Amino acid sequence: MKDFAGKICFISGGASGAGLGQAKVFAKSGMKVAIADVREDALENAVKEIVAYAGCPESDVLAIKVDLTNREEYTAAADKVEETFGGPPHLLIQTAGVNSFGPVEASTFDDFDWVVGVCFNHVVNGLLIFVPRMIKAYAGKTEFHVATTSSMGAFMGNSGCGPYGAAKAAVNNLMYSYADTLRKYGAGATVLCPANINSNIGNAEKYRPANLRNTGYHVSEGTMMHLRSVHATGQDPIELAEILKEAIETGRIIAMPNPDPSTWAPQLRGLNETIENYTLTQAERDAIQAEKMKAMQEMMEKMKAEGKEPPAMGWAVPEGGEAFGQARKDLDWIKR
Ligand code: NAI
Repeated sequence: MKDFAGKICFISGGASGAGLGQAKVFAKSGMKVAIADVREDALENAVKEIVAYAGCPESDVLAIKVDLTNREEYTAAADKVEETFGGPPHLLIQTAGVNSFGPVEASTFDDFDWVVGVCFNHVVNGLLIFVPRMIKAYAGKTEFHVATTSSMGAFMGNSGCGPYGAAKAAVNNLMYSYADTLRKYGAGATVLCPANINSNIGNAEKYRPANLRNTGYHVSEGTMMHLRSVHATGQDPIELAEILKEAIETGRIIAMPNPDPSTWAPQLRGLNETIENYTLTQAERDAIQAEKMKAMQEMMEKMKAEGKEPPAMGWAVPEGGEAFGQARKDLDWIKR
């Protein structure tokens, strides 16, 4: 998809962080932008920020308060976009997400239902609700595209964020399927896989639904403070949105936090090697992992040399904070 001006864009999670950056960038490209988010106060503020950044009329920005895990609410949001802008989106970007950290063996059903519900199920909801409408309205007539914000976590398993990594891996796989099928309608799909974003995701536990609050992880104001300090060092959402835009324009399926493939290639190659060589023992996998960490260090040195902020390799707990990623304290059977 190359032409954005005058077209319609829908962004889930568009009130904050990566989604807000995308809303600003695509509004500035001349699109009418609908942002859908569960937090009403954040939506109000986001509209002002988008209008100021893009210099567009306020009538080109539609804010919809919606819990995107709820299919009826999501369908009503899609109807609202059509009523307001006269059609379904030409560009669907699903970016809403939440995270929570703790040993995977401590996870509860609530941990899975919340994280997988937002990070994966809402993506399924949006694809099922919007894609048939997009095909009917635009196939053979004009360009359209679907995109999703996934994560680098999609490529790897990690004890500290099992539900999140599983959800993001599922998102990637599903987007490859959509990329494959949308070609016959003249459309494309892109999955953005960021590393660390300067966003508000460190506060996600604050609006975790009341019926999904039985977590197996140790969560407190202090752990959220630590998470916020990690994300404060993350990539600028506008810079990330520009990378996504470029990937959509050039028809790329995967968009990474740096468009230069040499940046992330060593790490991805290490991960891929453990899949290609599926007969490897754990000890051999550990050796590859050690090599990968070395390559990661070199990548960070390269980023530093280019004047870019490299991702931190272990984040210090800020004063007054508490380490995140621990099990709930009463789970005495967890090895700490
Ligand atoms: P953010 O917290 O700033 O933005 C996420 C938005 O999603 C929030 O405004 C939140 O209200 C909304 N949301 C959450 N649950 C919702 C629901 N049920 N219905 C509607 N809206 C809902 O966080 P950030 O970091 O900008 O996250 C955007 C995406 O980027 C997420 O998919 C996240 O997993 C992904 N990501 C984030 C990374 C990071 O370091 N922050 C790294 C890699 C990927």
